[in-house]
Amino acid sequence: MEEYRVSVVDINFGCPVRQVTEKAHSGSYLLRTPMRMFEIISKLVQACAPTPVTAKIRLGCSPETINCNEIAKIVEEAGAAALTVHGRTAKDMFRGHADWERISEIKSYLKNIPLIGNGDLDSAEKVVHAFQNYNVDGVMIARACLGRPWLFAQAAAALRGEPIPPDPTLHEQRECMLRHYRLVVDRFGEEKGTVLMRKYACCYAQGKHGARHFRTHVARVNTAEEFHQVVDEYFPLMSNEEVKAMS
Ligand SMILES: Cc1cc2nc3c(=O)[nH]c(=O)nc-3n(C[C@H](O)[C@H](O)[C@H](O)COP(=O)(O)O)c2cc1C
Repeated sequence: MEEYRVSVVDINFGCPVRQVTEKAHSGSYLLRTPMRMFEIISKLVQACAPTPVTAKIRLGCSPETINCNEIAKIVEEAGAAALTVHGRTAKDMFRGHADWERISEIKSYLKNIPLIGNGDLDSAEKVVHAFQNYNVDGVMIARACLGRPWLFAQAAAALRGEPIPPDPTLHEQRECMLRHYRLVVDRFGEEKGTVLMRKYACCYAQGKHGARHFRTHVARVNTAEEFHQVVDEYFPLMSNEEVKAMS
């Protein structure tokens, strides 16, 4: 681990996708066998030392079999350095709301390791609310940051008690997306990077007027030239406020 300069190894016991659960018996499938989780975590802790190993779970496999409190204890006993909990069960997939009350309850089952709450955080206000109300030591933001990476700066400012910076202008958002694209291409190369970026580009457009056209076109790009063409032509999207102001 040190050789690759990895800072942390996070084991995903939360993935609810059929291929991962039913076919590979991995991800959230393992929530039904906490002792197996214990074995996996302890072996990884040993193998990865001194790199910390953390675990990410859901509340359980289904609403009828919620066992996150028991699992939390086992995860800590196995030597994990932190526990992240997505407040849904595997059966819920992404339906309904994350149950933050359940996440909060887990805190009393942990002795020392931090509890990181996850699920449905899409604004700086919600992040502050989570810290103030649900006993968590940290939060994880997933879907909301895919097209709004500035959310972290907004949440961090709010947590420091500072005014929340406004969303970037559309021009700045476009520049941010282009920088994101450059980084993805630097890492994965033009061909793979462009295909990977299709879905993130759609996230940047989400909720904006004209997003549908942008999505339709960006979903087909294969080269950097095509990507930039589509951005030039379709990303000058308008915010909903601008659309309202024109009508
Ligand atoms: C497309 C997609 C891919 C994901 N991949 C992972 C993953 O590789 N590892 C993981 O721990 N969680 C993964 N998750 C779950 C998220 O980390 C997170 O638990 C979930 O989206 C709920 O948080 P959110 O409401 O902030 O999105 C994924 C979620 C989505 C939508």
